[in-house]
Amino acid sequence: MSTSTGQDHGAVAGPALESQATIDAEVASIHERYAGRRANHPPRDFAPYRSSALRHPTHELVTLFPEEIERTSPAFGHVDVDPYESDLTIQHTGEPLGERMTVTGRVLDGDGRPVRNQLIEIWQANAGGRYIHKRDQHPAPLDPNFTGVGRALTGDDGSYRFTTVKPGPYPWKNHRNAWRPAHIHFSLFGQAFTQRLVTQMYFPGDPLFALDPIYQSITDPRARERLVAAYDHDETVPEFSMGYRWDIVLTGSTATWMEDEHDDE
Ligand SMILES: [Fe+2]
Repeated sequence: MSTSTGQDHGAVAGPALESQATIDAEVASIHERYAGRRANHPPRDFAPYRSSALRHPTHELVTLFPEEIERTSPAFGHVDVDPYESDLTIQHTGEPLGERMTVTGRVLDGDGRPVRNQLIEIWQANAGGRYIHKRDQHPAPLDPNFTGVGRALTGDDGSYRFTTVKPGPYPWKNHRNAWRPAHIHFSLFGQAFTQRLVTQMYFPGDPLFALDPIYQSITDPRARERLVAAYDHDETVPEFSMGYRWDIVLTGSTATWMEDEHDDE
C-alpha cells in the first residue's frame, strides 16, 4: 500500500502563501470554464492545487507493457488478507481515541454488478488529523493506538466493511491556512497492480468542501458529491459506533472519481 503518499504536507509552490480568497477565485474561474460539462476526472494541472502544476505530465505518456510491470509489482493472494485487517481499532494494545464508526458499501461496475474479491486498502489520519508520517509534523497529537491503515476483500455482493475512527481535518500548506476536509484514502487493487485505482471518501456536510482545491479540482459537482459518504443509521452499532455508507462505481456515467496515479493527497 502506498501509504507513504497519504498526506499533503509540504506541498508549497512558491515563497508566499496566497489567501483562501485567491484560491477560491481561481477555483471559481475554472469551474465557470467547465460549467455544464460532465467530467469524472479533474484537469491534471489544476492550478489552485499548487503541487499539481509541478507534477502533472507535460509530455506524451509512454506506453509500457503491463506484463513487464506485473512481473515485479506487488501481488496478493486471498489467504494474505486477514479479516481482522478491516478493523483499524484493534491493531494496538489500547483503543484509539475518536468517533468510532463503521464504513461500508459496495464496489460495483457500470452496470450495477458487484465486483467480488476486490482488495480495498484504506489509509487515513487519526481523530486529531495527524498521520504517522515523517512529513506530517503539524502540532496535532499522534495516537499510540492508531496506525490508520487497513484492508479488506469485497464479498460476493461486492460489499466491504471497515471499523475505524473518524479522521480529523488537517492543515496542508497549499495556501495560507489551507485545511483538508476529513477524508479516507481508498485504493482498489483490481486484478493486477496496473489496474489499481485510488480515490478519497469524504463525510457529509463538511464545511471545508468549498475551501478545498483538491475536492474542488473535480469540476462536475455531481462527481464531487459521489465522493461523499452517507450517514446510515442502519449501519451504526448500538452503544458502539456510527455508520457511513459509500458505494464505489468503477465505470460508466456515475463512476466514482479516481486520482491520477501521480496524485498524493
Ligand atoms: Fe490525506
